[in-house]
Amino acid sequence: MILLTGITGNIGGATARALVARGVKFRALVRDTVKAAAWVEHGVELVQADLEDATSVKRALVSVNCALLVLPNSESQERLETSFVRTAKESGLSWIIKLSSPEAIRGTESPIPLAHIAAEDAIMASGMKWTLVRPSFYMQNFRSSLKTARTTGKLSMPMGLGTVALTDNQDAGAFIAHLLTDPHAAQHHDRCYDITGPDPVMNFHDIAKVIGEVVGQPITYDDCDAKAFQETIRPFHRNQWHSDAVAHLFAEIADGRTPGRKTDTFQKIMGQPGRSLREYLQSLT
Ligand SMILES: NC(=O)c1ccc[n+]([C@@H]2O[C@H](COP(=O)([O-])OP(=O)(O)OC[C@H]3O[C@@H](n4cnc5c(N)ncnc54)[C@H](OP(=O)(O)O)[C@@H]3O)[C@@H](O)[C@H]2O)c1
Repeated sequence: MILLTGITGNIGGATARALVARGVKFRALVRDTVKAAAWVEHGVELVQADLEDATSVKRALVSVNCALLVLPNSESQERLETSFVRTAKESGLSWIIKLSSPEAIRGTESPIPLAHIAAEDAIMASGMKWTLVRPSFYMQNFRSSLKTARTTGKLSMPMGLGTVALTDNQDAGAFIAHLLTDPHAAQHHDRCYDITGPDPVMNFHDIAKVIGEVVGQPITYDDCDAKAFQETIRPFHRNQWHSDAVAHLFAEIADGRTPGRKTDTFQKIMGQPGRSLREYLQSLT
């Protein structure tokens, strides 16, 4: 039995959609069964549980042999993920797939990658089989940029000359579903997959150019003030910790400490390229 966490979110939701499309039955651990109710008609078994409550997690893990672990960034992420790993090990889980991030590189001082590193370490030390799936910067981070670009003529972000590789987070879900259903799944055990889409590594001038081509007007990159930017995106974050953590991560990208790195892993394993930034942005118009 497969268990997914996070199906009411981006990656877990994308994984769930891809599994449903393949006709695969699975169980989903959800905090709120009403919020996830639409999945039931697709044959998904919902189990109400919360990663804050190990007893509920244990219930969700009964008869499960592989599980996807996805949590949002928060000050609790490291604690909840390492607790899930402990409970999974005690419950006899044999294979755990964790959604992580390619910025999780030793030497980082940024809270989000540090939490991923701690959870990755716990997984690799657990004795369970594991796979780390680490999609690069989501294209969805530019979801609202099209509208703003049309009105201001700018892409305003405090990213300096930092670079990113980009991934459509729906591709990341399809990738995880592929691993979970691969008849030769053992080849994915104890592997770390950094995945990206087909675009070359880009700086934010390059990204502004693609946005401009999609909206049909020149868009310039505005390397705006980091503090002011943090204030504008503050309403989209859960709390001050989250806002500060994202600002820290962006600062590491801006000063070149975590440069984008394109990989061919998605193409090799899926046998086809992921979606490009242009294709993603065009799908929004
Ligand atoms: N943004 C990027 O560019 C990027 C790139 C690479 C990796 N990442 C990583 O992606 C991850 C986030 O994935 P996402 O975008 O899919 O997150 P998301 O859309 O915020 O979804 C998070 C899911 O976790 C569930 N959840 C939260 N707290 C829970 C708890 N205590 N117990 C059980 N379930 C809980 C949520 O359920 P509810 O509906 O109940 O809240 C939701 O389904 C982060 O770890 C981040 O570092 C992000």
